[in-house]
Amino acid sequence: MSNAEIGVIGMGVMGSNLALNIAEKGFKVAVWNRNDKVMHDVIRHAGPLASNMIACETYEQLKAAIRPPRPIIILVKAGDPVDQVIGHLKSLLDAHDIIIDSGNANFRDTMRRFDGLKDSGLTFIGMGISGGEEGARHGPSIMVGGKESSWHRVEKVLTSISAKYKGAPCAAYMGPDGAGHFVKTIHNGIEYGDMQMISEVYGIMRDGLGMKAAEIAKVFGDWNKGRLNSYLIEITQKVLSVIDAKAKKPIVDVIVDRAGQKGTGKWAVIEAQTFGVNASAIEAAVDARLMSSLKAEREKAEKAYKIPRKKISPKSRAAFLRQLEGALYAGKIAAYAQGFAVLETASKEFEWNLPLGTIASIWREGCIIRSQFLGEITKAFNKSGGGNLLMAPAFTAMMKKDHLSLRAVVSASALAGAPAPALANALSYFDGYRQARGTANLIQAQRDFFGAHGFERIGEEGAFHGPWALGRG
Ligand code: 6PG
Repeated sequence: MSNAEIGVIGMGVMGSNLALNIAEKGFKVAVWNRNDKVMHDVIRHAGPLASNMIACETYEQLKAAIRPPRPIIILVKAGDPVDQVIGHLKSLLDAHDIIIDSGNANFRDTMRRFDGLKDSGLTFIGMGISGGEEGARHGPSIMVGGKESSWHRVEKVLTSISAKYKGAPCAAYMGPDGAGHFVKTIHNGIEYGDMQMISEVYGIMRDGLGMKAAEIAKVFGDWNKGRLNSYLIEITQKVLSVIDAKAKKPIVDVIVDRAGQKGTGKWAVIEAQTFGVNASAIEAAVDARLMSSLKAEREKAEKAYKIPRKKISPKSRAAFLRQLEGALYAGKIAAYAQGFAVLETASKEFEWNLPLGTIASIWREGCIIRSQFLGEITKAFNKSGGGNLLMAPAFTAMMKKDHLSLRAVVSASALAGAPAPALANALSYFDGYRQARGTANLIQAQRDFFGAHGFERIGEEGAFHGPWALGRG
């Protein structure tokens, strides 16, 4: 009986929680999993939601269970597994049915898949979902790319299951083909930047000020009551407060300082460079994860250099902590300005017409970077429609005040030998962006000296070369 509103393939953590969320919102959802037992277990543990869940042991049963045109969400490992599932569905589904990839796919793969289905009568949605397991179950932020007509077929379900910000769904149509997955990729790049800056400020408090995890947790807890209020600050306070049962000490003090990364932050940096956009703070965050992976080398290097880390001894700790808060806020502004600059440039490149204000608005709840701060960005882009965030009046005012804190903190961390690459790049980005006369004139002279690449002269049209033969002696 084809009365399911939507189908979900893949009953892993994300797929099962998304299916439960869909069922909870009153929709019939047809589910399939490579391992039937896993699927039946999910339904067995679903309680009253099981009545809205239709177990399908074959793709044919899945197709038969969903009302046409059939939207089917794929939540399997990104990459080849997605192509394999698409291959199976392509031969089975009818015209106008919709295949939806909701994994963390590279948007260029999504564009390829979208094009690959064009002649089949089927259509394809690349859907970014943010918020992890908790988000999938209780309300993620959802970024949809594909045909707008496909969006209208799934809009009711997605806006029902998404997170809500003051009642407004955190699910929206981003634009054609790869737009949804691209927006999710940049979300993740910003997420890396946010997490890195938080870890740098944690390092300054731990190594510079000699503060213990519990003390640092309290500082983040206080900050979470103010303008830095966000999911990442909230969980930072929580993870710093947890005592490890085995070691009987803060769990953060027994975790190895080597960060993993599944690749979305790296993709964000690659695309920033591809589009010629400076995303230096985000790039510093990805590089910091790479640096963290050199654990053995770093242990050897510390022994080889034996340079003692200097303590930071501010006249007033309270005042310095206020500077740390300001530095983190100013660093966020720079990192988000970079992320949205990448979005805006890609939007022009692909003629996606990305809704920057809408993107910020659906990130206010549900996603990993959800924060009060995104409310400010939403207002700025709803007013301006685009342009660098550093030039939005509200952010100009904030940076005029908080750059001094960022400057003080970056200086203190440099003198203390406490690495702060994302904060330092945020500061350099700000200083570079507001410098009318930089130093690239010297680079132009050098390039022309050794490569005759030419340069522009102030106030004159055309390309010029220097009299370097004279300088060659
Ligand atoms: C989200 C998260 C999530 C993230 C994974 C892996 O928006 O819910 O960004 O999609 O990609 O948790 O994160 P790493 O890239 O750090 O491995």
